[in-house]
Amino acid sequence: MKALGTLHLGFLGAGAIAEALIRGLTTTGVARPEQIHVTNRGNRSRLEELQLRYGVNTYALASDALAHVDVILICTKPRDVPTALTTIAPFVPRDVLYVSIAAGVSIATIESSLTTAKGCLDRSRKRIVRAMPNTSSVVLCSATGYALSHACTPEDEAVVRTLLSAVGRAYPLDESLLNAVTGLSGSGPAYVYYLAEAMTQGGIDVGLDPHTATELVVETLFGAAQMLRERVAPPTALRKQVTSPNGTTMAGLAVLDAYSFTDAVRAAIKRATERSAELGDEFTREAQES
Ligand SMILES: NC(=O)c1ccc[n+]([C@@H]2O[C@H](COP(=O)([O-])OP(=O)(O)OC[C@H]3O[C@@H](n4cnc5c(N)ncnc54)[C@H](OP(=O)(O)O)[C@@H]3O)[C@@H](O)[C@H]2O)c1
Repeated sequence: MKALGTLHLGFLGAGAIAEALIRGLTTTGVARPEQIHVTNRGNRSRLEELQLRYGVNTYALASDALAHVDVILICTKPRDVPTALTTIAPFVPRDVLYVSIAAGVSIATIESSLTTAKGCLDRSRKRIVRAMPNTSSVVLCSATGYALSHACTPEDEAVVRTLLSAVGRAYPLDESLLNAVTGLSGSGPAYVYYLAEAMTQGGIDVGLDPHTATELVVETLFGAAQMLRERVAPPTALRKQVTSPNGTTMAGLAVLDAYSFTDAVRAAIKRATERSAELGDEFTREAQES
C-alpha cells in the first residue's frame, strides 16, 4: 500500500473511528506512529490507551497536537464539530488539509466554522474533504464515499485516497451523493446484521441449535460476500446459478418475493438516504443558529 511520505496527521477526536483509522494507518505502514498526533476534549486515559497501543503521539492540548500537522482528521461527533473547529481555527497551519469523518456535516458548515471563528484571521478557501466510512472500518473493511471541496488539489485527492484506503475501499463522489452513501453503505452493515439475525432465527426454527445456526449464517454471508468481491459473476447471475428449477432455493426465493423482499430493501435505502438529508439540514440550521 502507498505510504503517506513525510506528512504529519492530526486527529481531532480519539474515539472509535479515530482508533480504526490509527490502527489501519499503522498496521498497513501507510503512516508511522511518529507521524500521528492525537488530541481529544479531555479524556486523558483514552489518550494514554492509544499511545500505549499504537505508539502515537498524544496531547492534552489541541494547540500542541495540531499546530504543525499537514492533515487534520475531524473525528468528533457531528454536534461537536463547530465548537471543535472554532477552537482550533486560530492556530492551525494555513495550508492544512481537513478530512472530516463526521456524518452529515457539510463542507460548507466546516468551512464556515473555520473562517468565521473568533481570533481567526485567515479567511481563505479551505481544502476540505468530507468522508463517510462505515463501521466495518474497525476490521479495516469499510466502504467509504468521499467528496472534496473546490479548493482541493489532485495531490490532496491522492493523500485522502491513501488515508481512507487504510481502513477499506474508498470512492470519490460529488458531495450531493453523500446522503445516498449514508443510506446505502453507511447504514448497510445494519441491514446485513438484520439479515443475519433473521437467517439465524430461521435456522433455529427448522431445528438447528443456535451455535450451529450462527456459524452457518456467518460463513454463508462471508462466502457470498467473497464471491461478490472477487467478481466471480454479477449478483443476478450468481443468484440464477444457484437457483435450479423447482429446487429448494427457488422455493425459498419465491417466499422472499411474496414478502416483497426487493421492494423492502430498496425502500429502506431510500428512507435512510432521506433521513440522512433531514439530519444534515437540522444540523446545518443548528450550526448557523449557534
Ligand atoms: N464509528 C463509526 O463506525 C463511524 C462511521 C462513520 C462515521 N462516523 C463518524 O465519526 C465521528 C466520530 O464517531 P466515534 O464513534 O469515533 O465517536 P466517539 O467514540 O464518541 O469519539 C468522539 C471523540 O471526539 C472527541 N471530542 C469531542 N469534542 C471535542 C472537541 N471539542 N475537541 C477535541 N475532541 C473532541 C471526544 O473526546 P472526549 O472523549 O475527551 O470527550 C472523543 O474522543 C462521528 O461524527 C461519526 O458520525 C463514525
